[in-house]
Amino acid sequence: MCGIIGYVGEKDCVSILLNGLKRLEYRGYDSSGIAVLNKEDNRNEISMVKRVGNLKKLEKALSKKEMKGSLGIGHTRWATHGKPHRLNAHPHLDCKNEILLVHNGIIENWGPLKNELISRGHKFISETDTEVLVHLVEDYYNGDLVKAVRKALSKVEGSYAIVVMSKKSPNQLVGARQDSPLVVGLGNGENYLASDIPAVLEHTNKFLIIEQGEIANITKDKVEIYDRNEKLVNKSPFETNWDISSAEKEGYEDFMLKEIMEQSIAVRETYRSHVYKYKISLDESNLPIDIIKNIKKIFIVACGTSLHAGYVVKGVVERFARIPVDVEIASEFRYKDPIIPNPSLVIAISQSGETIDTIAAIREAKRKNAWILTISNVMESSAVRESDGAVYTFAGPEIGVAASKTHTAQIMICYLLSLYLAKVRGEITSAETAYYLNILKEVPSKIKSVLDNHSKIKELANIYYKFPDFIFIGRKYGFPAVMEGALKLKEISYIHAEAYPAGEMKHGPIALVGENCPVVAIADDSSVYNKILGNISEVKARNAPVVALTTIGNEKIKNLVDHVIEVPKIPEEFSAIINVVPLQLFAYEIAKKLGCNVDQPRNLAKTVTVE
Ligand code: AGP
Repeated sequence: MCGIIGYVGEKDCVSILLNGLKRLEYRGYDSSGIAVLNKEDNRNEISMVKRVGNLKKLEKALSKKEMKGSLGIGHTRWATHGKPHRLNAHPHLDCKNEILLVHNGIIENWGPLKNELISRGHKFISETDTEVLVHLVEDYYNGDLVKAVRKALSKVEGSYAIVVMSKKSPNQLVGARQDSPLVVGLGNGENYLASDIPAVLEHTNKFLIIEQGEIANITKDKVEIYDRNEKLVNKSPFETNWDISSAEKEGYEDFMLKEIMEQSIAVRETYRSHVYKYKISLDESNLPIDIIKNIKKIFIVACGTSLHAGYVVKGVVERFARIPVDVEIASEFRYKDPIIPNPSLVIAISQSGETIDTIAAIREAKRKNAWILTISNVMESSAVRESDGAVYTFAGPEIGVAASKTHTAQIMICYLLSLYLAKVRGEITSAETAYYLNILKEVPSKIKSVLDNHSKIKELANIYYKFPDFIFIGRKYGFPAVMEGALKLKEISYIHAEAYPAGEMKHGPIALVGENCPVVAIADDSSVYNKILGNISEVKARNAPVVALTTIGNEKIKNLVDHVIEVPKIPEEFSAIINVVPLQLFAYEIAKKLGCNVDQPRNLAKTVTVE
């Protein structure tokens, strides 16, 4: 997820663009850039500054450079394809340095497009997917920038919000969107394009939304928006009364709720980044085929929510790739002088890539000559740099301390990695891989259907928020989700909550349940459904209130429990990515009912970089 902005008007726009990017920094901050066109004396001179690091680095560079212009674009990046590097920062230029483009989204078919453009003589300087867009526009440009952009986008598969400018079209910006947000800010004698409202809210509160497939042609006095069929679209502007803070949360009360609600996009972008035409690509993993074929064992090292993703990895890697997996708490693994058979694969999971215990576990695994793969949401993070390879989630920055969208994105990677390993080891065929990928392709819409059920979960929270203790139970593929559900409740509402494999209840924990200790049970369609029903009966017999998370259409269970949360049907191997979402919302709504600060819970930090 990145932040993009464009300005066309009469003012010098460098500071407008920079301040706008500062308002978009929560969308991405590993590198940034600004380019402006100076039209004074008909020079039509482009100047551009790009920097790695947060916006302060760009601001410092701009303060040292004489840059003027009344047409310009800017970008603050969250790296997806191509590490954080000045050459990979946007704006990107065409071969003639006349057309410039900034992009938020993921171009799925960037590889084939890049090869085709190189064969036509285009020179690339970055590792990004975005750069193919500006060379495509160049290919089609013959004086009409809107037409060139439209033709270029007709070749593209994936998600984008773009702003394009050209030295040869000094009075216009062109914007377009597919799946990534883009708004037009309407000023007097000036107009703006931006990823979202905060970027330009200080200049205007009048906006137009660019819808899917639309292209906008913007000058300082005119805004024309065309649909997919090149028809001019009549839109009435809306006025927003948001302040900056609520605008950055896009109107949500907290970043955490915004990030919970963004999950279908985060999971979709993560899937799209690694799957093209039913082929799984984990390029940066650098995993050698012979290692994959000969791995004796896999160890997962992680902490907190990422550790729970590790339990998902265990379930699906053992199911599909038939490789034994040990899930290790990183802070334990680093001190236990682990026995690591050779060759082994150690998978470190860390959304920040900066958790000190996980980094220490990576170092310990390295000392034992294991092959290290890190799953992270941050390119070039410390954990990634100390590993042999990485596989990235594409959830965008997560501001809320409690992980949500980064977790479901991690789980999507777990599924893709397990299928990849299984395919390479010949445990599944290409046809089976395609079958499973088809199921995973539907996950974002299934998550969306759960999120649409938010109000029902809020009602449940209003019933259960006063209980002092909770027990979460699940079996097999349901267990990682209850681990995460209990952690979410603990960390944002401060209510005591424990998660157990349901079969463990009779070995002690059942002594806890009773009318003051509700049980949340994952009882979706699965091979262990009848077993979990037995556990539910056990706790009901002790008068515990029971909330069952069950598959839509299961009417029978409604007579056995106090409340149900319904989830869409999905094969049990892939259920965790769906089942964890209502548990996030349940914890969130209980915490809100209790008046807790969900974005910054007490005693917690987003990343634990010290022991
Ligand atoms: C989860 O909501 C917490 N934020 C915490 O448990 C977190 O998952 C853990 O600190 C690991 O962080 P990482 O994924 O950045 O390594």
